Amino acid sequence: MKRALALTTAALLGAAAVFLPLSGPWTGWVRVAGYTLLAWAATWPAHRFTWGRAAVTVLIVWALHIWRLGNPAAAVAEAWWALLATLIGPVLAYFTTARGYDPHFDLVVPWVYGHLSRRDGGPPPRTLLRLAAVEATHRVLDVGGGAGRIARYLEHARQVALVDPSPFMLAEARKRARLRPVRAFAERLPFPAGAFDRVIIVDALHHMRDQQAALREAWRVLRPGGRLVLEEPNPAHPVGRAIAIGERLLGMPSRFHTPESLAARFPKAQTHIHKDAWRAWIVMTKP
Ligand SMILES: C[S@@+](CC[C@H](N)C(=O)[O-])C[C@H]1O[C@@H](n2cnc3c(N)ncnc32)[C@H](O)[C@@H]1O
Repeated sequence: MKRALALTTAALLGAAAVFLPLSGPWTGWVRVAGYTLLAWAATWPAHRFTWGRAAVTVLIVWALHIWRLGNPAAAVAEAWWALLATLIGPVLAYFTTARGYDPHFDLVVPWVYGHLSRRDGGPPPRTLLRLAAVEATHRVLDVGGGAGRIARYLEHARQVALVDPSPFMLAEARKRARLRPVRAFAERLPFPAGAFDRVIIVDALHHMRDQQAALREAWRVLRPGGRLVLEEPNPAHPVGRAIAIGERLLGMPSRFHTPESLAARFPKAQTHIHKDAWRAWIVMTKP
């Protein structure tokens, strides 16, 4: 209902801005705004950049407008405004759609993580690898695995699936042949119960919208006897607190928890907490 209202309002405002008889220095910008609103409405809700529908909509409205003006000379000037709107509309639609995850992971972050995921980027995650103890026979799931920065160290396992909702992060992970990247949310994992011997969530839980559902799902897809490893900054440590403040300043909706409070959510698990200077690993074995 809300969506229908938003789309109808955008379409009406857009059409008004394009078709109203205007003159004066602001006319061009009003037309751009109108075409953009129409391109936005044609594309929304978009979970990827889709210019096709925006282009067709803007082209039809542009042609109608030129026909109504009865002035072919105006067509070229109008075409520039329409083209600009066709480019902007779908991008706006993408970033104003409720995607259920932090949009930062579609911006500069994939580029940074893409670099870290290449052979020479960043030191190996030794503590995590030791605690996860992944063997060649294991099926492993990396939840919120992003660009594959961690999963690339687990490629000796029988199968390594990586789940992430950001297409931009996944595009990096797809470059690694041994990984199986899946576009999905941690809160609704597309795997049957007990499908994995190891599940890891590294530096991602605090970004998830419904952390309780994400943990429940990670536990569900783990087989009995399997191991879940969470790695998170420790907010009880000054560096962990600084990370939390930094992410808030960047506008990220992150929520951090102490390792003890995370472990307490799994009363039936055999739990082990490991800490270094500012990070914590919570290792849980499913009974
Ligand atoms: C800081 S990155 C960490 C990526 C990877 N684990 C690593 O350590 O390199 C956090 C990742 O969590 C993902 N993420 C955010 N919300 C998520 C959700 N609801 N389900 C799954 N992944 C999510 C983001 O898209 C992003 O790729």
